[in-house]
Amino acid sequence: PKRVRTRHFLQAKRDGHPIVGLTSYDFLSAQIFDRAGIDFLLVGDSAGNTVFGYDSTLPVTVDELIPLTRAVARAAKRALVVADLPFGSYETNPREAVHSAIRFMKETGAHAVKLEGGERSAEQIRHIVEAGIPVMAHIGFTPQSEHGLGGHVIQGRGEAGAEQLLRDARAVEAAGAFAVVLEMVPSAAAKAVTEALSIPTISVGAGPDCDGQLLVWTDWAGFTTGRIPRFVKQYAQIGQALEAAAIAFREDVESGAYPAPEHEYE
Ligand code: KIV
Ligand code: NA
Repeated sequence: PKRVRTRHFLQAKRDGHPIVGLTSYDFLSAQIFDRAGIDFLLVGDSAGNTVFGYDSTLPVTVDELIPLTRAVARAAKRALVVADLPFGSYETNPREAVHSAIRFMKETGAHAVKLEGGERSAEQIRHIVEAGIPVMAHIGFTPQSEHGLGGHVIQGRGEAGAEQLLRDARAVEAAGAFAVVLEMVPSAAAKAVTEALSIPTISVGAGPDCDGQLLVWTDWAGFTTGRIPRFVKQYAQIGQALEAAAIAFREDVESGAYPAPEHEYE
């Protein structure tokens, strides 16, 4: 299959062809999503929750994400692989941001990086892009700043919120981002941003009028335990399926039903 490139994102927006993304954190899931024709795989710092069991994304480090990103990049034959820059790896200054982005590009085989923030991250985006690394921006609700934002709060609400969202979107486009994730914003605000930009908008809970849709795969597949956000549609219940399988296995071993003769070597 032909590799999805950043130019295909721009083309998709012009053609009105939706872009589809999922997160992935490992080789096997990435292989499946790639075969299924998912356009891009984000190795999100949501791995903090889904892989490492932290209660937020704040503790996640570059060193933790690099091996996961490498596994996903090995699996993806067609999908564009995006490495998420974790909290603390790019905010201080553009040098730090470029250094972190280069680590992902050198050490993992990812094709682009993602970082959070609109106007506040524009300088970082500009320098990373100047280093030859494509950047996916991320505005609206940005989980790495959940404490600054006062919790999991919908962004872009009201006239002032919508205006700030638009300023952030314009800033990341001007800085050279090839796409921008809009997380947890009202559909109307996301629509206005989508119409104002020439780069594609990718919705994570930003409604139907964006140029693409992205979900955290463990939420989308019913693997996550606990509460999942309103915007997630679950396409499978693999958590229940795995639990049932584990119970059946335990019961078979306890009863002597496993292993059966066909599982034995002569
Ligand atoms: O880390 C992540 O999974 C993300 C997406 C939800 C946008 O950043
Ligand atoms: Na993230």
